[in-house]
Formats: sequence, structure tokens, C-alpha cells
Amino acid sequence: MSARRILLGVTGGVAAYKAAEFTRLLVKAGHTVEVVMTEAATRFVTPVTFQALSGNAVYADLWDPRPHNAMAHIELSRRADVFIIAPATANTLYKLAHGVSDDLISTLAAARTCPLVVAPAMNRQMWANPANQRNVAQLRADGVQVFGPASGEQACGEVGEGRMLEPEQLLERLEALFVPQRLAGRKVLMTAGPTFEPIDAVRGITNISSGKMGYALARACRNAGAEVTLVSGPTGLPCPEGVQRLDVGTAREMYDAVLRHAGSADIFIGVAAVADYRVRNRAEHKLKKGDSVPVIELEENPDILATVASLPAAPFCVGFAAESRNLLEYADAKRRRKKVPLLVANLVQKAMGRDTNEVLLLDDAGSHALPEMDKQALAARLVEELAARLPPA
Ligand code: PMT
Repeated sequence: MSARRILLGVTGGVAAYKAAEFTRLLVKAGHTVEVVMTEAATRFVTPVTFQALSGNAVYADLWDPRPHNAMAHIELSRRADVFIIAPATANTLYKLAHGVSDDLISTLAAARTCPLVVAPAMNRQMWANPANQRNVAQLRADGVQVFGPASGEQACGEVGEGRMLEPEQLLERLEALFVPQRLAGRKVLMTAGPTFEPIDAVRGITNISSGKMGYALARACRNAGAEVTLVSGPTGLPCPEGVQRLDVGTAREMYDAVLRHAGSADIFIGVAAVADYRVRNRAEHKLKKGDSVPVIELEENPDILATVASLPAAPFCVGFAAESRNLLEYADAKRRRKKVPLLVANLVQKAMGRDTNEVLLLDDAGSHALPEMDKQALAARLVEELAARLPPA
């Protein structure tokens, strides 16, 4: 995402400490951040912390004379691309929903011309309070984006809904606001990561796919407005915010999960490095070292991509192909055999486990190379290519 001007409002809750980390992440991602605080927020974290992290002056007073026309309440939000209030307390949500303008943050929100986002953070009972729920519903109806809250352990010791989203999740959601909604209304089903075919109770056949390419693509599809279901083999990656992840182990489990959802998908993308074979003579217990070397017999796994592509009302299918040589020749043969309209081919040496990738796109018109780039940037590019080839909804 290109650099944006972010106005961050911090209101008075314990989660204000997470806003400091959020500021750091925003700056690290190249954005310009200006911070405004309520008086209550300054009791949790000092303005100096935000000034140091953002590199900009911090405002907490409606009467601050520093803006050249002494109109902080208008100046600050007019130069922002987005105004995000994180954490947003129940009190601030109430004020925003009712147009109250009695401090710098609520006044900036009323006078803004940019989109407004709130990330609520409060005790679970306060969150569930009908008055608060009415305020949140009103804000949504007014076009305000509400990020979260999450469920979990709260600072007060209670457990429930009301935690502010983590800074990384806020960053993901915020950056997604600026992405063209090329896949709005589309359901994307995809696979990612490796599969694991057990040999015995502890050993198995797998591969070195990290899941990074698939997860980046899941995020990019979600950013473009799609509803994403990600069938994932074992990876250590966190599920992208807003994506539905189904965890599987073996290729057959992946096949079953995909086929359960394929009927309602508009697009299927097979990024997973699926094992072509599984162990026929899998041992129930751990194999003991003995006199003879165990013999592992293999049998073929079903081809998930080819199966989905041959369904009577098949979704638009995108395959990947990982080759260690003869990329164009082998990948083109795979595209024809599996009958997919678009195939993304990459060399394992440049793709697997790495943060960057370099691919060839193959379709009926021929092949088209994309230069090496970061997997998230490549994923955004692949979404553009995919959207351009989609039949009308
Ligand atoms: O996870 P990373 O570390 O980021 O690496 C990314 C990647 C290299 C794994 C990814 O970019 C990639 O190329 N994925 C496909 C890897 C692969 O196994 O390709 P394949 O040539 O074996 O399979 C071709 C296509 O058929 C793939 O879409 C695959 O998901 C699908 N397939 C394969 C076998 C099978 N039984 N069922 C399938 O659906």
C-alpha cells in the first residue's frame, strides 16, 4: 500500500499502550502518523511516547494554538487520509454516535472529511450494554468502520468480547481500506501450505512450503473485498484477519474440505503444495528400529485442483505450479492437463519458504512474466490479474 497520512485518536483505556505499538507499525510501514489524545488517554500513556514514535507533535487540547490558524479541530483531520480512533472507549463511541463535540477527538471526528474508523476497547459488560450496542449500530449506519473488538482475556481479569484488536490486525484492516474492491461480493476458496502424509505415529512425508504465498494471496483477496475460505496445511502462520481458515493435515483431508465448499465458491485458487502420494502401509504406532529397513508403499492422492476444475458448475480456477527446472514446459503441460484458465508458475528455488517470489502467468493467450517481488505485493498483483480474467458476476 502506498504511504498514507493517518490521524490516530487515542482515548482513555488500558489498550492505549497497544496504540503505541500500532503507531510504531504504521510508521515502519511508511505512513505519516499524527496522534491526538483525550485527556484521559494521557493518564495511561504520555504524549511524549507518541511524539517519539510518530516523529510528530501530539495534540490533546482543543485550544492548542500550534496549528497556524489555531483550528486544530479542523486542520488535523483535513490533512488525513483516514482518522482511526484506537482504542475507542464506550464514552467516545457514545459521543461520536450523537454528534457530541466536547474535546479534540470528538470535534475532529465531527469536522472530518476523511473516513472514520473506530477500534473499540472496553470491559465485556460495557461492550454488551444495549446502550453501547445502539451507539455502535448508529456509527455503522453512519458509515463509520468498526474494527473488532476481539474476544479474550481482559485487563480487568474478565473474559469476553471487548478487547481491542492487536496492532498488527489493526494495520492489516486499515491498509485494506485503500485497496480497490475488485473481488467485492465474490467467494474465494483456496488452499495453502504443505500437506502431511503420516508414515507412523510420529513421522510423515511433507515438503518445505511455508504457506507464505497462499496466506499473502488470502490477505490480498480479502483486501479486494472477497469472502475468503482458506484450507490450510500445517504452517506456523497466523490466520489473516477476516479470513475463515480450515486446518487440515493430509491431502485427502484437504480434498474433503475443499469439496465441501467448492459448490458455493466463485473462485478456487490452489496454492498448496499437495502431496501427490500418501503412505499405503501407514503404521499405527511408532516404527521401531529393527533388523530390516521398513518399506514404505505409496498410493496416489486425489488431485484437488483437477477435481474442482471439472465440476459441472466449476468456480473460476487458478492453479500454481512449482518446478525445479523446465518451468514453462512443465507448467504449461500441467495447466492443460488440469484444465485451468490461469496458472501461476514458479521455480521452487525462488519460491518455497522465501519472502519473495518471481512467477510466470500462463493462460490461453500465452505466458507473461512478473518480476521478483515481495509475496504480499505479488499477491496484490495476482488479484488484479485474476479479476481482469473473471467472467462477470
Ligand atoms: O508456501 P510457500 O513457501 O510460500 O511457497 C509457495 C509455493 C511454491 C508452494 C506456491 O507458490 C506453489 O507453487 N504452489 C503449488 C505447489 C505445487 O505443489 O505445485 P504442483 O505442481 O505439484 O501442483 C500443481 C497444482 O495442482 C497446484 O495448484 C496444486 O495445489 C494442485 N494440486 C497438486 C496435487 C494434488 N494432489 N492436488 C492439487 O490440487
